[in-house]
Amino acid sequence: MILIQVTARAPGKVILFGEHAVVHGKPAIAVAVDRLAHVTLTGRTDSIIRAEISRLGVDGYLNLENETINTQGYQIEVGLLKYVLKALKAVDHRTEPGTGLDVTVDIEMPVASGLGSSAAVTVATLAAASKYHQLNLKPKAISSLAHLVELEVQGAASPIDTTLSTYGGVIYLSPDVQEIVRLPIDWDLPLVIGHTRRQGNTGELVESVRLKKESYPSVINPIFESIQEVTEEARNALLEKDENKLGELMNINHGLLDALGVNTPALSRMVYLARQKGALGSKITGAGGGGSIIAYCPEKMDEVISELQKEEQAFPVKLRHEGVTCNVIE
Ligand code: MEV
Repeated sequence: MILIQVTARAPGKVILFGEHAVVHGKPAIAVAVDRLAHVTLTGRTDSIIRAEISRLGVDGYLNLENETINTQGYQIEVGLLKYVLKALKAVDHRTEPGTGLDVTVDIEMPVASGLGSSAAVTVATLAAASKYHQLNLKPKAISSLAHLVELEVQGAASPIDTTLSTYGGVIYLSPDVQEIVRLPIDWDLPLVIGHTRRQGNTGELVESVRLKKESYPSVINPIFESIQEVTEEARNALLEKDENKLGELMNINHGLLDALGVNTPALSRMVYLARQKGALGSKITGAGGGGSIIAYCPEKMDEVISELQKEEQAFPVKLRHEGVTCNVIE
């Protein structure tokens, strides 16, 4: 028996414009970034599936039949193994000898930070398993299976993360046609991510915004409409590479997210520190309540990163044009 080894890698993402409003039928723009999840599958002669995320100190045994994970570790990191399990199961159910696997996962981004680590891990696992079992699923199938896995594990999920992890690039999620449009952006869009140690709970934050809308519809609906206008303007700014406009629109979007109540003192501090150090624009990215900010500061990356690092984690990312890729070692 030849035991092959397959590695797949898939990018994470950041939301540039339109988070929260997108839940209420408004457009959003998001980009794949060059922080990857790597998943390697190595065949075993038995039927055991052993998974390891060494950087997070997580390892365990996955049982595809009864969908249990036998492991020790912290909940959020172990949580990632659920995506691995569901993704492996979505591709192949067999549990007889010779179907065992060693799964190693490596992630180049903080977990639960708004960078879409779960989608990147899911897409990479699906792509690796598809190659390993010689199914060679097309990107469209990988993307929709990954979205189903996210729905199964999380209960709710937008297709933004799984689409970007599959295809890379920049997407505009259109409200009218409920369709994802890939934007032809041919520059690198360098960004700084500032990441607070505190994690926001996306479900709770989405619910808190919904309640605000219910209590003050005449106040909150115009905020969503403003976010929509910001996102439409930003689409043009990106296509035209109008950096000042892009930055200014990020600042406006941040103010609107603050008005929705998803800002925190730590996020706010990073947003303003970044601007003080020369960012053209900075804002919360993702659900808020903790998590991350993005700053657009092409000429001032180092200054902004070292300032943010005094208090929180900060690192550079750039647009990743390439989606999930795979290679096989026999
Ligand atoms: C979370 O990353 C972004 C939200 O808009 C929720 C979603 O789109 O699923 C807050």
